Amino acid sequence: MNTSILIVDDEKHQRDTLSDYLSSQKNTVTTASGVEEAVQILKSKIIDIVFTDFKMPGKNGLDLLREIKIINPDTQVVIMTAFGTIENAVTAMKEGAFDYITKPIDLDEIDLLIKRIDERQNLLSENIRLKEQLKDRYKLSGVISSSAKMEEVISIASRVAESKAAVLIRGESGTGKEVLAKAIHFSSERKEKPFIAVNCAALNENLLESELFGHEKGAFTGADKQKRGRFELANEGTLLLDEIGDLPAATQVKLLRILQEEEFERVGGVQPIKVDVRILAATNRDIEQLIDEGKFREDLYYRLNVVTINIPPLRERREDIPTLIDFFLNKYISTTKKSKAEFSKEAFDILMRYNYPGNVRELENIVHHSLVLSREELITSEDIPISLRKKRSESGKPCDELDLETPMSEQVDNLEKKLVKEAMERTKGNQTGAAKILGIPERNLRYRLEKWGWKNNS
Ligand SMILES: Nc1ncnc2c1ncn2[C@@H]1O[C@H](COP(=O)(O)OP(=O)(O)OP(=O)(O)O)[C@@H](O)[C@H]1O
Ligand SMILES: [Mg+2]
Repeated sequence: MNTSILIVDDEKHQRDTLSDYLSSQKNTVTTASGVEEAVQILKSKIIDIVFTDFKMPGKNGLDLLREIKIINPDTQVVIMTAFGTIENAVTAMKEGAFDYITKPIDLDEIDLLIKRIDERQNLLSENIRLKEQLKDRYKLSGVISSSAKMEEVISIASRVAESKAAVLIRGESGTGKEVLAKAIHFSSERKEKPFIAVNCAALNENLLESELFGHEKGAFTGADKQKRGRFELANEGTLLLDEIGDLPAATQVKLLRILQEEEFERVGGVQPIKVDVRILAATNRDIEQLIDEGKFREDLYYRLNVVTINIPPLRERREDIPTLIDFFLNKYISTTKKSKAEFSKEAFDILMRYNYPGNVRELENIVHHSLVLSREELITSEDIPISLRKKRSESGKPCDELDLETPMSEQVDNLEKKLVKEAMERTKGNQTGAAKILGIPERNLRYRLEKWGWKNNS
C-alpha cells in the first residue's frame, strides 16, 4: 500500500526515526518541523495521514488539526503525545483526530493504526461508489429534472430500458419526449448500437416508406440506386418513431407486420430482410381519439403501447423550472462572451409564474434569448421576451368583452395573426417549431404565412 504520510514534530530525531521506518514500509513520507510548514505542505499535495506531535513551539497539534479539517477533511490525523498529557489527546479526538499514540512510539502500534485508517478509507470510498451507483441506476443521461413527477417518469424509463418492450412516450410538444427516448436507448444494452429517429409527420406516405424501409434500385422514378431504410440502419439498436399519430394508414399496416414478424421488404423489393430493432414511439396527439375516428389502427396501438410513459407538461412540475434554467444557462453561456450569468430576482419570478405552452423547449428558447440579449451578468426582466412580462399571456384567451360589431371572420383572423406572430417570435422564425407551439400542421402554418404575405419577413 502506498500511503502518503506527513510527520510533524519539532524534534529532528523523532521525525527521522519515524520517517525512516515508514519509508521502509513503502509509504511516501514528508516531514515538517512545525505547524506553519505543515500547512504549506498540506496545501500543495494530498496527504492521507498526518502524524503530529502535540506540543511544539508556537502553534500546537490541535491548531494543526483544525487547519487540516478545513484544508482537506479526508486527511486523517494521529496525535503523538508525551505520556501524562493524555487530556490534550482526548480533546483532539473530540475535534476529529483519528486516534492518538503516546511517546515513546511503538512501531507495531503505528503499523496497526495505518492499517485501520486504510481500511476505513476503503470503506468510505466503497460507500460513496455504491451510493453513486444507486443514484445512477435511476438517473437517465440528459434528462434534467428535480420534480417528483419526473422522478417517477425516470424511474419507469430506467426500468423499461433493460427490456425490449415497445414504449409509447406521450406528452405535449416540447416536454422532452425525444430526450427521454434517447435516454432509454443510452441506458439500455443497445447503447453501443445506433439510435435512429424518424419523424412520421415530416414526409408524405411514399417518401416515409422509402425512408423507413429503404428501396431497391428502380422502385420508383428517381430511385436510381438501392437505399437502406431506417429500420435496417437501426438494426440491433433503437428506432424512435416520432409523431406516430401522423403515420399514414398504409404505413401503419406495414409497421404492424414488422412488429409482429421482425421482417420486411424494401420498397420495390421481394427479399425479406430480418431486423432486430427496439421500437420507441412518441406522440403529442390523442391517439384514442384517432382510433375512434378510424385514423389509427387499434392493433398497432396495442403493439406500440406495451408500456406508456406520460411526460407531464412543464406547468405541472414547476420545481423543474429552476433546475432547467441553470442547465440551459450553462449550456448556452459558452456561446456568449460572458463567463457567468444569472437571472435577477424579478426576472426569475416572471419565469417561475409563466405557464409555458411550449414546455421545456420554450423555456430553453427563453433562457437562450435572454442570455444573448442581456449586456450584464445579471439578466433582468428587460431581457426576457415581452410576452412573458405581461401579467397573463394572451394566447388562447379570447377577449373579455365580446365585440359583435366587427365581423367574426375578421376577429378570428386577427387573433390567428397574433398567435402566429407570437409563435414565430418565440421560435425566431422557425416554422416547424412555431407550428408545434400552435398545434397545427406545418403546411397549415405555411398557408397562413403566404396568405398574409408574411413569408419573407418572418
Ligand atoms: N428534461 C429535460 N432536460 C433537458 N433538456 C430537455 C428536457 N426536456 C426537454 N428538453 C429540451 O427541450 C427541447 C425539446 O425536447 P424534445 O425535442 O425532446 O421534445 P418533444 O417532446 O419531442 O417535442 P415535440 O413533440 O415538439 O417533438 C430540446 O431542446 C431538449 O433538449
Ligand atoms: Mg419530438
